Amino acid sequence: MILVTGAAGFIGGNFVHHWLGLHDEAIVVLDKLTYAGNPATIAEHLQSGRAILAQGDICDREFVKGLLARHRPRAVLHFAAESHVDRSIHGPGEFIQTNMVGTFSLLEEVRSYWGAMDADAKAAFRFLHVSTDEVYGSLGDTDPAFSETTAYQPNSPYSASKAGSDHLVRAYHHTYGLPTLTTNCSNNYGPYHFPEKLIPLMILNALEGKPLPVYGDGLNVRDWLYVRDHCEAIRQVLDKGRLGETYNVGGKNEIRNIDVVTTICRKLDALRPKADGTTYESQITYVVDRPGHDRRYAIDPTKIEAEIGWKPAESFESGINKTVAWYLENTAWIDSVRTGAYRDWVDQNYATR
Ligand code: NAD
Ligand code: DAU
Repeated sequence: MILVTGAAGFIGGNFVHHWLGLHDEAIVVLDKLTYAGNPATIAEHLQSGRAILAQGDICDREFVKGLLARHRPRAVLHFAAESHVDRSIHGPGEFIQTNMVGTFSLLEEVRSYWGAMDADAKAAFRFLHVSTDEVYGSLGDTDPAFSETTAYQPNSPYSASKAGSDHLVRAYHHTYGLPTLTTNCSNNYGPYHFPEKLIPLMILNALEGKPLPVYGDGLNVRDWLYVRDHCEAIRQVLDKGRLGETYNVGGKNEIRNIDVVTTICRKLDALRPKADGTTYESQITYVVDRPGHDRRYAIDPTKIEAEIGWKPAESFESGINKTVAWYLENTAWIDSVRTGAYRDWVDQNYATR
Protein backbone atom coordinates (compact mmCIF):
# COMPACT_ATOMS: atom_id res chain seq x y z
CA MET A 1 0.00 0.00 0.00
CA ILE A 2 1.20 3.49 -0.82
CA LEU A 3 -0.32 6.74 0.38
CA VAL A 4 -0.57 9.55 -2.16
CA THR A 5 -1.56 13.07 -1.09
CA GLY A 6 -3.30 15.34 -3.60
CA ALA A 7 -4.21 12.44 -5.90
CA ALA A 8 -7.58 13.91 -6.86
CA GLY A 9 -5.65 16.73 -8.56
CA PHE A 10 -4.02 16.91 -11.98
CA ILE A 11 -0.65 15.18 -11.57
CA GLY A 12 -1.62 13.04 -8.59
CA GLY A 13 -4.69 11.79 -10.48
CA ASN A 14 -2.58 10.91 -13.51
CA PHE A 15 -0.16 9.19 -11.16
CA VAL A 16 -2.97 6.97 -9.80
CA HIS A 17 -3.86 5.87 -13.36
CA HIS A 18 -0.21 5.28 -14.23
CA TRP A 19 0.63 3.38 -11.05
CA LEU A 20 -2.43 1.13 -11.11
CA GLY A 21 -1.76 0.36 -14.77
CA LEU A 22 1.60 -1.10 -13.77
CA HIS A 23 1.21 -2.35 -10.18
CA ASP A 24 -1.16 -4.47 -8.11
CA GLU A 25 -0.32 -2.43 -5.02
CA ALA A 26 -3.29 -0.31 -3.90
CA ILE A 27 -3.30 3.42 -3.17
CA VAL A 28 -4.76 5.44 -0.32
CA VAL A 29 -5.56 8.93 -1.61
CA LEU A 30 -5.37 11.70 1.01
CA ASP A 31 -7.01 14.76 -0.54
CA LYS A 32 -8.86 17.76 0.86
CA LEU A 33 -10.85 18.07 -2.38
CA THR A 34 -10.28 21.78 -2.82
CA TYR A 35 -11.57 23.43 -6.01
CA ALA A 36 -8.67 21.63 -7.78
CA GLY A 37 -9.43 18.14 -6.46
CA ASN A 38 -11.96 16.08 -8.37
CA PRO A 39 -12.65 12.41 -7.53
CA ALA A 40 -14.13 11.95 -11.02
CA THR A 41 -10.51 12.00 -12.25
CA ILE A 42 -9.88 8.66 -10.53
CA ALA A 43 -13.47 7.39 -10.33
CA GLU A 44 -12.82 4.03 -12.01
CA HIS A 45 -10.16 3.14 -9.42
CA LEU A 46 -12.30 4.31 -6.50
CA GLN A 47 -15.14 2.14 -7.79
CA SER A 48 -12.91 -0.91 -8.22
CA GLY A 49 -11.50 -0.40 -4.71
CA ARG A 50 -7.88 -0.28 -5.92
CA ALA A 51 -7.76 3.33 -4.73
CA ILE A 52 -9.37 4.46 -1.49
CA LEU A 53 -10.24 8.11 -1.01
CA ALA A 54 -9.72 9.64 2.43
CA GLN A 55 -11.01 13.19 2.25
CA GLY A 56 -8.97 15.28 4.65
CA ASP A 57 -6.42 18.03 5.12
CA ILE A 58 -2.68 17.37 5.36
CA CYS A 59 -2.66 20.06 8.08
CA ASP A 60 -4.96 17.89 10.23
CA ARG A 61 -2.42 15.87 12.21
CA GLU A 62 -4.92 13.61 13.98
CA PHE A 63 -6.47 12.69 10.65
CA VAL A 64 -3.07 11.95 9.09
CA LYS A 65 -1.96 9.96 12.13
CA GLY A 66 -5.12 7.82 11.99
CA LEU A 67 -4.72 7.22 8.27
CA LEU A 68 -1.10 6.07 8.62
CA ALA A 69 -1.99 3.78 11.52
CA ARG A 70 -4.94 2.26 9.66
CA HIS A 71 -3.31 1.65 6.26
CA ARG A 72 0.40 1.19 7.17
CA PRO A 73 1.76 2.46 3.81
CA ARG A 74 5.30 1.53 2.77
CA ALA A 75 5.67 4.94 1.12
CA VAL A 76 4.10 8.38 1.20
CA LEU A 77 4.11 10.36 -2.07
CA HIS A 78 3.33 14.01 -1.42
CA PHE A 79 1.64 15.85 -4.30
CA ALA A 80 -0.92 17.89 -2.32
CA ALA A 81 -0.44 21.62 -2.71
CA GLU A 82 -1.99 24.86 -3.76
CA SER A 83 -0.49 24.96 -7.24
CA HIS A 84 -1.58 28.04 -9.22
CA VAL A 85 0.84 30.99 -9.32
CA ASP A 86 -1.84 33.61 -10.14
CA ARG A 87 -3.95 32.54 -7.16
CA SER A 88 -0.89 32.80 -4.90
CA ILE A 89 -0.42 36.40 -6.01
CA HIS A 90 -4.02 37.29 -5.14
CA GLY A 91 -4.14 35.29 -1.90
CA PRO A 92 -0.92 33.79 -0.54
CA GLY A 93 -2.38 32.60 2.79
CA GLU A 94 -3.66 29.21 1.60
CA PHE A 95 -0.31 28.57 -0.08
CA ILE A 96 1.64 29.10 3.12
CA GLN A 97 -0.89 27.00 5.04
CA THR A 98 -1.02 23.97 2.74
CA ASN A 99 2.42 24.01 1.13
CA MET A 100 4.49 24.91 4.18
CA VAL A 101 2.44 24.21 7.32
CA GLY A 102 0.78 21.22 5.64
CA THR A 103 4.10 19.71 4.55
CA PHE A 104 5.48 20.28 8.05
CA SER A 105 2.44 18.59 9.63
CA LEU A 106 2.71 15.65 7.25
CA LEU A 107 6.45 15.30 7.89
CA GLU A 108 5.90 15.30 11.64
CA GLU A 109 3.29 12.52 11.47
CA VAL A 110 5.35 10.53 8.98
CA ARG A 111 8.45 10.88 11.18
CA SER A 112 6.55 9.54 14.16
CA TYR A 113 5.02 6.66 12.12
CA TRP A 114 8.39 5.78 10.55
CA GLY A 115 10.23 6.06 13.88
CA ALA A 116 8.05 3.33 15.39
CA MET A 117 8.72 0.81 12.58
CA ASP A 118 10.98 -2.21 12.89
CA ALA A 119 14.43 -1.92 11.27
CA ASP A 120 13.52 -3.60 7.97
CA ALA A 121 10.35 -1.58 7.42
CA LYS A 122 12.22 1.58 8.39
CA ALA A 123 14.91 0.93 5.80
CA ALA A 124 12.36 0.20 3.09
CA PHE A 125 10.13 3.22 3.78
CA ARG A 126 10.19 6.29 1.48
CA PHE A 127 8.78 9.82 1.66
CA LEU A 128 8.75 11.29 -1.86
CA HIS A 129 8.12 15.02 -2.13
CA VAL A 130 6.83 16.33 -5.47
CA SER A 131 8.11 19.84 -6.14
CA THR A 132 8.69 22.35 -8.89
CA ASP A 133 11.42 24.01 -10.94
CA GLU A 134 9.98 27.39 -9.92
CA VAL A 135 11.99 27.25 -6.66
CA TYR A 136 15.08 28.15 -8.71
CA GLY A 137 13.67 31.49 -9.89
CA SER A 138 13.97 32.92 -13.38
CA LEU A 139 16.58 32.41 -16.12
CA GLY A 140 17.88 34.91 -18.67
CA ASP A 141 17.86 33.90 -22.35
CA THR A 142 21.39 32.49 -22.33
CA ASP A 143 21.65 31.17 -18.74
CA PRO A 144 22.29 27.45 -18.34
CA ALA A 145 19.29 25.31 -17.38
CA PHE A 146 18.50 24.61 -13.70
CA SER A 147 20.49 21.78 -12.17
CA GLU A 148 20.09 20.28 -8.70
CA THR A 149 22.83 22.60 -7.41
CA THR A 150 21.30 25.83 -8.72
CA ALA A 151 20.65 28.21 -5.79
CA TYR A 152 17.03 28.61 -4.72
CA GLN A 153 15.58 32.01 -5.68
CA PRO A 154 11.77 31.70 -5.59
CA ASN A 155 9.90 34.74 -6.88
CA SER A 156 6.18 34.15 -6.26
CA PRO A 157 4.35 33.29 -3.04
CA TYR A 158 3.66 29.89 -4.64
CA SER A 159 7.30 29.15 -5.42
CA ALA A 160 8.45 30.51 -2.05
CA SER A 161 5.99 28.18 -0.29
CA LYS A 162 7.24 25.22 -2.35
CA ALA A 163 10.86 26.21 -1.64
CA GLY A 164 10.02 26.24 2.09
CA SER A 165 8.53 22.76 1.82
CA ASP A 166 11.62 21.49 -0.04
CA HIS A 167 13.86 22.83 2.72
CA LEU A 168 11.76 21.12 5.38
CA VAL A 169 12.00 17.80 3.55
CA ARG A 170 15.75 18.22 3.24
CA ALA A 171 16.03 19.04 6.96
CA TYR A 172 13.99 15.99 7.99
CA HIS A 173 16.42 13.77 6.11
CA HIS A 174 19.52 15.54 7.39
CA THR A 175 18.38 15.85 11.01
CA TYR A 176 16.20 12.80 11.62
CA GLY A 177 17.36 10.46 8.85
CA LEU A 178 13.86 10.27 7.34
CA PRO A 179 14.28 8.45 3.99
CA THR A 180 13.23 11.26 1.68
CA LEU A 181 13.37 11.88 -2.07
CA THR A 182 12.50 15.14 -3.82
CA THR A 183 11.65 15.78 -7.46
CA ASN A 184 11.64 19.27 -9.00
CA CYS A 185 9.72 19.21 -12.26
CA SER A 186 8.98 21.65 -15.06
CA ASN A 187 5.52 22.57 -16.45
CA ASN A 188 3.26 19.57 -16.91
CA TYR A 189 0.40 19.28 -19.39
CA GLY A 190 -2.04 16.55 -20.36
CA PRO A 191 -5.41 15.07 -19.34
CA TYR A 192 -7.31 16.24 -16.21
CA HIS A 193 -5.46 19.60 -16.09
CA PHE A 194 -7.61 22.18 -14.31
CA PRO A 195 -8.70 24.86 -16.81
CA GLU A 196 -7.08 27.76 -14.97
CA LYS A 197 -3.63 26.75 -16.31
CA LEU A 198 -2.32 27.95 -19.68
CA ILE A 199 -2.88 24.92 -21.95
CA PRO A 200 -6.36 23.77 -20.90
CA LEU A 201 -7.51 27.39 -20.55
CA MET A 202 -6.46 28.15 -24.13
CA ILE A 203 -8.11 25.01 -25.54
CA LEU A 204 -11.41 25.63 -23.79
CA ASN A 205 -11.52 29.40 -24.37
CA ALA A 206 -10.75 28.84 -28.04
CA LEU A 207 -13.61 26.37 -28.44
CA GLU A 208 -16.01 28.77 -26.69
CA GLY A 209 -15.02 31.72 -28.88
CA LYS A 210 -13.53 33.59 -25.91
CA PRO A 211 -10.34 35.71 -25.88
CA LEU A 212 -7.06 33.81 -25.46
CA PRO A 213 -5.30 35.94 -22.79
CA VAL A 214 -1.52 36.01 -23.32
CA TYR A 215 0.32 37.73 -20.47
CA GLY A 216 2.82 40.52 -21.27
CA ASP A 217 4.68 40.06 -24.55
CA GLY A 218 4.03 36.30 -24.70
CA LEU A 219 7.76 35.59 -24.87
CA ASN A 220 8.14 33.94 -21.45
CA VAL A 221 9.54 30.45 -21.82
CA ARG A 222 8.46 27.27 -20.04
CA ASP A 223 9.86 23.73 -20.32
CA TRP A 224 6.85 21.49 -21.04
CA LEU A 225 6.61 17.84 -19.97
CA TYR A 226 3.72 15.47 -20.70
CA VAL A 227 2.22 14.49 -17.35
CA ARG A 228 2.61 10.73 -17.89
CA ASP A 229 6.36 11.24 -18.29
CA HIS A 230 6.46 13.06 -14.96
CA CYS A 231 4.49 10.23 -13.32
CA GLU A 232 6.94 7.67 -14.67
CA ALA A 233 9.87 9.74 -13.40
CA ILE A 234 8.33 9.77 -9.91
CA ARG A 235 7.72 6.01 -10.05
CA GLN A 236 11.34 5.39 -10.99
CA VAL A 237 12.77 7.81 -8.42
CA LEU A 238 10.68 6.08 -5.75
CA ASP A 239 12.23 2.80 -6.77
CA LYS A 240 15.82 3.80 -7.53
CA GLY A 241 16.45 7.27 -6.04
CA ARG A 242 19.25 7.80 -3.53
CA LEU A 243 17.98 8.84 -0.12
CA GLY A 244 18.07 12.54 0.66
CA GLU A 245 18.66 13.41 -3.00
CA THR A 246 16.75 15.75 -5.28
CA TYR A 247 16.12 15.02 -8.97
CA ASN A 248 15.21 17.61 -11.60
CA VAL A 249 12.64 16.38 -14.12
CA GLY A 250 12.12 18.12 -17.45
CA GLY A 251 11.19 17.57 -21.06
CA LYS A 252 13.89 19.58 -22.87
CA ASN A 253 10.94 21.34 -24.49
CA GLU A 254 11.58 25.04 -24.00
CA ILE A 255 8.77 26.89 -25.74
CA ARG A 256 7.63 30.53 -25.69
CA ASN A 257 4.07 31.00 -24.42
CA ILE A 258 2.90 32.57 -27.68
CA ASP A 259 4.18 29.53 -29.58
CA VAL A 260 2.31 27.19 -27.24
CA VAL A 261 -0.88 29.16 -27.87
CA THR A 262 -0.50 29.33 -31.65
CA THR A 263 0.28 25.59 -31.77
CA ILE A 264 -2.97 24.86 -29.93
CA CYS A 265 -4.85 27.18 -32.29
CA ARG A 266 -3.51 25.40 -35.36
CA LYS A 267 -4.37 21.96 -33.96
CA LEU A 268 -7.92 23.15 -33.32
CA ASP A 269 -8.17 24.76 -36.77
CA ALA A 270 -7.44 21.30 -38.22
CA LEU A 271 -9.62 19.26 -35.87
CA ARG A 272 -12.54 21.61 -35.24
CA PRO A 273 -12.59 24.39 -37.90
CA LYS A 274 -14.59 27.45 -36.93
CA ALA A 275 -17.94 27.85 -38.63
CA ASP A 276 -17.28 31.52 -39.52
CA GLY A 277 -14.07 30.64 -41.42
CA THR A 278 -11.75 32.62 -39.11
CA THR A 279 -8.82 31.00 -37.32
CA TYR A 280 -8.52 30.48 -33.56
CA GLU A 281 -5.42 32.71 -33.59
CA SER A 282 -7.74 35.66 -34.19
CA GLN A 283 -8.91 35.20 -30.58
CA ILE A 284 -5.41 35.83 -29.13
CA THR A 285 -5.46 38.90 -26.87
CA TYR A 286 -2.40 40.32 -25.15
CA VAL A 287 -3.26 41.26 -21.56
CA VAL A 288 -1.47 42.89 -18.63
CA ASP A 289 1.48 40.83 -17.38
CA ARG A 290 1.51 38.64 -14.24
CA PRO A 291 3.29 40.59 -11.43
CA GLY A 292 6.83 39.29 -11.00
CA HIS A 293 6.37 36.97 -13.99
CA ASP A 294 9.39 34.64 -14.28
CA ARG A 295 10.89 34.97 -17.74
CA ARG A 296 12.29 31.55 -18.46
CA TYR A 297 12.51 28.09 -16.90
CA ALA A 298 14.66 25.26 -18.22
CA ILE A 299 15.64 21.96 -16.65
CA ASP A 300 18.90 20.08 -16.98
CA PRO A 301 17.77 16.45 -16.53
CA THR A 302 21.29 14.95 -16.67
CA LYS A 303 21.14 13.54 -13.13
CA ILE A 304 17.84 11.67 -13.46
CA GLU A 305 18.80 10.40 -16.90
CA ALA A 306 22.23 9.16 -15.79
CA GLU A 307 21.38 7.83 -12.30
CA ILE A 308 17.83 6.63 -12.74
CA GLY A 309 17.74 5.92 -16.48
CA TRP A 310 14.56 7.98 -17.01
CA LYS A 311 13.80 9.78 -20.28
CA PRO A 312 10.52 11.31 -21.48
CA ALA A 313 8.56 9.22 -23.97
CA GLU A 314 6.56 12.09 -25.51
CA SER A 315 7.75 14.98 -27.66
CA PHE A 316 5.80 18.23 -27.32
CA GLU A 317 4.20 17.49 -30.69
CA SER A 318 2.90 14.05 -29.67
CA GLY A 319 1.94 15.21 -26.17
CA ILE A 320 -0.01 18.24 -27.32
CA ASN A 321 -1.84 16.15 -29.93
CA LYS A 322 -2.97 13.76 -27.19
CA THR A 323 -3.91 16.64 -24.92
CA VAL A 324 -6.00 18.55 -27.46
CA ALA A 325 -7.76 15.29 -28.45
CA TRP A 326 -8.46 14.52 -24.77
CA TYR A 327 -10.10 17.90 -24.18
CA LEU A 328 -12.22 17.51 -27.30
CA GLU A 329 -13.42 14.09 -26.17
CA ASN A 330 -13.87 14.49 -22.40
CA THR A 331 -16.57 17.11 -22.18
CA ALA A 332 -18.25 15.43 -19.18
CA TRP A 333 -15.11 15.85 -17.05
CA ILE A 334 -14.72 19.45 -18.21
CA ASP A 335 -18.35 20.25 -17.39
CA SER A 336 -18.01 18.64 -13.97
CA VAL A 337 -15.02 20.77 -12.96
CA ARG A 338 -16.54 23.92 -14.36
CA THR A 339 -19.95 23.53 -12.76
CA GLY A 340 -18.63 21.94 -9.58
CA ALA A 341 -21.08 19.08 -10.23
CA TYR A 342 -18.58 16.54 -8.88
CA ARG A 343 -19.25 18.00 -5.45
CA ASP A 344 -22.66 16.28 -5.55
CA TRP A 345 -20.80 13.01 -6.01
CA VAL A 346 -18.61 13.87 -3.02
CA ASP A 347 -21.63 14.76 -0.90
CA GLN A 348 -23.36 11.49 -1.77
CA ASN A 349 -20.32 9.30 -1.20
CA TYR A 350 -18.69 11.04 1.72
CA ALA A 351 -21.65 12.50 3.55
CA THR A 352 -20.83 10.64 6.75
CA ARG A 353 -17.14 11.47 6.86
P1 NAD B 1 -3.50 20.53 -8.48
O1 NAD B 1 -3.80 21.89 -7.98
O2 NAD B 1 -4.11 20.07 -9.74
O3 NAD B 1 -3.89 19.44 -7.37
C1 NAD B 1 -3.60 19.61 -6.02
C2 NAD B 1 -4.37 18.60 -5.21
O4 NAD B 1 -4.02 18.77 -3.82
C3 NAD B 1 -5.88 18.75 -5.31
O5 NAD B 1 -6.49 17.49 -5.49
C4 NAD B 1 -6.28 19.36 -3.99
O6 NAD B 1 -7.60 19.02 -3.56
C5 NAD B 1 -5.22 18.78 -3.06
N1 NAD B 1 -5.00 19.59 -1.85
C6 NAD B 1 -4.80 20.93 -1.81
N2 NAD B 1 -4.65 21.34 -0.53
C7 NAD B 1 -4.72 20.22 0.24
C8 NAD B 1 -4.60 19.98 1.63
N3 NAD B 1 -4.40 20.99 2.50
N4 NAD B 1 -4.71 18.71 2.08
C9 NAD B 1 -4.93 17.69 1.21
N5 NAD B 1 -5.06 17.86 -0.11
C10 NAD B 1 -4.95 19.11 -0.60
O7 NAD B 1 -1.92 20.45 -8.54
P2 NAD B 1 -0.97 19.68 -9.58
O8 NAD B 1 -0.74 20.56 -10.75
O9 NAD B 1 -1.48 18.31 -9.76
O10 NAD B 1 0.40 19.64 -8.74
C11 NAD B 1 0.69 18.55 -7.87
C12 NAD B 1 2.04 18.78 -7.24
O11 NAD B 1 3.03 18.86 -8.25
C13 NAD B 1 2.14 20.09 -6.45
O12 NAD B 1 2.89 19.85 -5.30
C14 NAD B 1 2.85 21.04 -7.40
O13 NAD B 1 3.58 22.01 -6.67
C15 NAD B 1 3.77 20.07 -8.11
N6 NAD B 1 4.16 20.45 -9.49
C16 NAD B 1 3.21 20.82 -10.41
C17 NAD B 1 3.61 21.11 -11.72
C18 NAD B 1 2.60 21.47 -12.78
O14 NAD B 1 3.00 21.83 -13.89
N7 NAD B 1 1.31 21.39 -12.53
C19 NAD B 1 4.96 21.03 -12.07
C20 NAD B 1 5.90 20.67 -11.09
C21 NAD B 1 5.48 20.37 -9.81
O1 DAU C 1 7.13 25.20 -13.67
C1 DAU C 1 6.29 24.36 -12.93
C2 DAU C 1 5.02 25.10 -12.54
O2 DAU C 1 4.24 25.21 -13.73
C3 DAU C 1 4.24 24.41 -11.43
O3 DAU C 1 5.01 24.40 -10.26
C4 DAU C 1 2.91 25.15 -11.17
O4 DAU C 1 2.16 24.43 -10.20
C5 DAU C 1 2.15 25.19 -12.48
O5 DAU C 1 0.93 25.89 -12.30
C6 DAU C 1 2.99 25.84 -13.57
O6 DAU C 1 3.20 27.25 -13.28
P1 DAU C 1 3.13 28.36 -14.43
O7 DAU C 1 2.86 29.66 -13.79
O8 DAU C 1 4.32 28.25 -15.31
O9 DAU C 1 1.87 27.80 -15.25
P2 DAU C 1 0.61 28.56 -15.90
O10 DAU C 1 -0.13 27.54 -16.69
O11 DAU C 1 -0.17 29.35 -14.89
O12 DAU C 1 1.30 29.59 -16.90
C7 DAU C 1 2.20 29.14 -17.90
C8 DAU C 1 2.72 30.37 -18.61
O13 DAU C 1 1.66 30.97 -19.34
C9 DAU C 1 3.23 31.45 -17.66
O14 DAU C 1 4.34 32.11 -18.25
C10 DAU C 1 2.06 32.43 -17.55
C11 DAU C 1 1.40 32.31 -18.91
N1 DAU C 1 -0.07 32.49 -18.94
C12 DAU C 1 -0.82 31.77 -18.08
C13 DAU C 1 -2.19 31.89 -18.09
C14 DAU C 1 -3.05 31.10 -17.11
C15 DAU C 1 -0.64 33.34 -19.89
O15 DAU C 1 0.05 33.98 -20.70
N2 DAU C 1 -2.00 33.44 -19.91
C16 DAU C 1 -2.81 32.77 -19.04
O16 DAU C 1 -4.05 32.93 -19.09
